Amino acid sequence: MIKDMRLETDRLKKSTLSNLFTIGCEDIVLREFRLEDLDELYALTLQPEITDILPDWKATKEQRKEFLTNMHMPSNKIFLKSVPNVGDTWFTVGIILKKTSEFIGWCCTGPCDELPKPNREIGYAISKYHRNKGYTTQAVMAMIKYLFENTEVKFLNAIALTTNKPSNRVIEKCGFNYTDNVTIGDREFYHYILSKNE
Ligand SMILES: CC(C)(COP(=O)(O)OP(=O)(O)OC[C@H]1O[C@@H](n2cnc3c(N)ncnc32)[C@H](O)[C@@H]1OP(=O)(O)O)[C@@H](O)C(=O)NCCC(=O)NCCS
Repeated sequence: MIKDMRLETDRLKKSTLSNLFTIGCEDIVLREFRLEDLDELYALTLQPEITDILPDWKATKEQRKEFLTNMHMPSNKIFLKSVPNVGDTWFTVGIILKKTSEFIGWCCTGPCDELPKPNREIGYAISKYHRNKGYTTQAVMAMIKYLFENTEVKFLNAIALTTNKPSNRVIEKCGFNYTDNVTIGDREFYHYILSKNE
């Protein structure tokens, strides 16, 4: 009886996972956020190595749960349903390490209000324990490929603090071209654009 229940739980877990959007890469998988990600996502947002650069991701666990369930997850569903005409919808996926199934970061795309249109940008962050292994570059390249091949998006933006060497390097490795500098609040960013036709 207990064995049967375990089998059923495993089957349900698998079927729930198989209903989620994923993109497989060499070492990582991009996967739609789910409620079970809360603890790992929250733990990432406790790393000052991430939130010093992305202060908007600072939140209490209750707020993070609220954002996950009432913002990211519904927005992802709307985005996926509206493909190819994704408009200004946000899409945020987890970066999952294939080897261990750990949730090690995220990659997101949506409009950056501070940039001129077409202003869809790609953003990302990865755990301090998994840096400099090319994982974010794999994630961003996969997101770019997905957007250019499956949606009406023709231009993508990326911005990085002028002092953020790893992020500027990721952007360059993904083929973006430097366009200009933008000031947001009191912070200076390099702004890059990637065109589908390049
Ligand atoms: C930016 C960030 C996502 C990079 O993730 P990552 O998985 O380590 O990135 P990758 O391994 O794909 O590439 C990092 C590149 O930066 C290089 N790099 C790292 N530190 C560097 C430094 N101090 N100076 C110069 N280059 C540096 C690495 O050598 C690598 O380049 P290479 O492949 O040519 O050797 C990660 O540092 C992070 O989460 N930072 C905090 C959040 C953030 O900055 N988000 C982006 C906001 S715009």
